[in-house]
Amino acid sequence: MHPAQLPLLGSPTPLQSIETSKLGVGSESRLWIKRDDLTGTALSGNKLRKMAYVLSDAKACKADVLITCGDLQSNHCRATAILARQLGFEVHLVLHGRKPQVSQGNLMLEHLAGAAISYCNWRDYRALRDSGFAELVSHYARENKKAYVIPTGASNEIGLWGYVSAYTEILGQCEEKGFKPDLLVCATGSGGTHAGLVVGGALAEQGVPVLGIAVCDNEAYFRQRYSEDVTAFNQRYGYEVQGSSSNFLINDTFIGEGYGKASPDVWQVICRLAQAEGIFLDPVYTGKAFSGLLKLLEEDAITAKNIVFIHTGGLFGLLAQSEQYARYVNLRAQASS
Ligand SMILES: Cc1ncc(COP(=O)(O)O)c(C=O)c1O
Repeated sequence: MHPAQLPLLGSPTPLQSIETSKLGVGSESRLWIKRDDLTGTALSGNKLRKMAYVLSDAKACKADVLITCGDLQSNHCRATAILARQLGFEVHLVLHGRKPQVSQGNLMLEHLAGAAISYCNWRDYRALRDSGFAELVSHYARENKKAYVIPTGASNEIGLWGYVSAYTEILGQCEEKGFKPDLLVCATGSGGTHAGLVVGGALAEQGVPVLGIAVCDNEAYFRQRYSEDVTAFNQRYGYEVQGSSSNFLINDTFIGEGYGKASPDVWQVICRLAQAEGIFLDPVYTGKAFSGLLKLLEEDAITAKNIVFIHTGGLFGLLAQSEQYARYVNLRAQASS
């Protein structure tokens, strides 16, 4: 069974060929970038694909209020806030972190969109999330409003469909350009993009290996998460996709100092791609994953001939790190003086 989706995405996003030599990397592999950063400007990125399905379900459930959660600069929360306004929902965001004096990047857009926001420390955030936001749901019920809870990153069995569909789109575009990809690569945070692509391959019965480059948790976490998401997917939609797959590849060695913290190497790759192609990666997700991919290519640790990197967005998270970027520029200036 294929669930309904809202028509949030326009035409397929471009598949762009990239010359690795322009990025200072000598490699036999051919590299493409799937421009899912262009799924829609203020909603850019992978979130729109997942939310097309999740919000169709919210509509079917006759929800009034969307409740979701994430970090202070969560791209997912920003996309939810904006989509809520476009589709006529109220929205309540539960954010992990202290309320900053000045809202930047994603948080600024959430304020502009008039989202209700609760700021929490880690302990309260986790307790609220683990309770399914029961208190908030009851609060809205007392106002006669039905709340619909969306998990972190919209990565559940419904949201998985976003990248199950994207898989078919990507393979079709590769075929049009006359090649078959040997490897798809994406950043992985809550796991839904990566899992969706692997499940897409399983359903198409022509799976291409998908390498998820972790930006937070470790390999064991993501393998377990994949297995749980696939089980829920099978139960809801009546499929028999395996809970482990040889096409599910994961690398957790590029997390660096932690979630949201980019090393000078990552900043360097962000600058290189911006200057070579006018494509902007972000320091939290895509920059880490793409610089990880370039490192693996440099080390000949990847032998795939045709690689497609999925650019999952994150522009507003980049803009929120202007101070970290300035620090990198200073470091670079000191090193070359
Ligand atoms: C820009 C960007 N790229 C990649 C990811 C990771 O996607 P997923 O949460 O589906 O693993 C996220 C999500 O949090 C994101 O905002």
